[in-house]
Amino acid sequence: MPRLAGKSAIVTGSARGIGRAFAEAYVREGATVAIADIDFSRAQDTAQEIGDAAYAVRLDVTDQASINAAIATVEVQAGGIDILINNAALFDMAPIVDITRASYDKLFAVNVAGALFTMQAVARSMIARGRGGKIINMASQAGRRGEALVGIYCATKAAIISLTQSAGLDLIQHGINVNAIAPGVVDGEHWDHVDALFARHEGRATGEKKALVGASVPFGRMGTAQDLTGMAIFLATAEADYIVAQTYNVDGGNWMN
Ligand SMILES: NC(=O)c1ccc[n+]([C@@H]2O[C@H](COP(=O)([O-])OP(=O)(O)OC[C@H]3O[C@@H](n4cnc5c(N)ncnc54)[C@H](O)[C@@H]3O)[C@@H](O)[C@H]2O)c1
Repeated sequence: MPRLAGKSAIVTGSARGIGRAFAEAYVREGATVAIADIDFSRAQDTAQEIGDAAYAVRLDVTDQASINAAIATVEVQAGGIDILINNAALFDMAPIVDITRASYDKLFAVNVAGALFTMQAVARSMIARGRGGKIINMASQAGRRGEALVGIYCATKAAIISLTQSAGLDLIQHGINVNAIAPGVVDGEHWDHVDALFARHEGRATGEKKALVGASVPFGRMGTAQDLTGMAIFLATAEADYIVAQTYNVDGGNWMN
């Protein structure tokens, strides 16, 4: 029995990577899923590859008009929104003395303001519909503690953990559960970019940082996007109704709290 039969989901940043794996998993569980991404042409290809239950939506989470339009599209297409995964994010790296305002502004605009105002707009839609809902924010182990070269990104993910707590406490009165997933190191295009930045900043060969972080995971390897789908499904089901404002580590044992 599919666990999300008849549910309507929107997954931001799902043209590729972890978001795409979430969309695929939700479709397998019977949901219809909006592949909402700033890379619209890739979102269209992804939706087509996933099948009829997925459809592409143009979304820039830094633009309020784009958020409103995307949500209106999903309301028309699917009759409302039951599940949001706030997944879109950017990464950057620099020593504290080299951090730029441009990098700070860009990461906070997408990772924090983007997630907050997408969550707000979806919450308003869910409240108006009166059926509650599930909101899952993508945090990170990077939000649990700082890292010397990753100050801005770590701060954005710490903000996501905090916003998950506040929104979770506020929105449960409407039957909306807000929780977060904190992955560790997940292989894919995102980590290709991270690896290239570490290569530049630490003078490493390409692939070396990936090998190091993978070997240090207690489970014994980097994660895959598929390693995260079980938690994303669970948090979207009625089984998780009593779970409020939590951030779950799905990281092969990297972080304990
Ligand atoms: N990969 C990891 O190791 C890892 C670890 C911890 C947490 N995370 C988090 O998981 C989530 C997904 O990560 P990923 O590895 O799949 O990243 P990714 O870079 O592969 O994918 C991010 C997606 O977001 C989209 N996007 C970027 N800016 C956008 C905007 N303004 N509006 C809408 N969409 C936008 C991109 O086009 C892309 O499709 C992120 O929140 C990330 O911070 C990833």
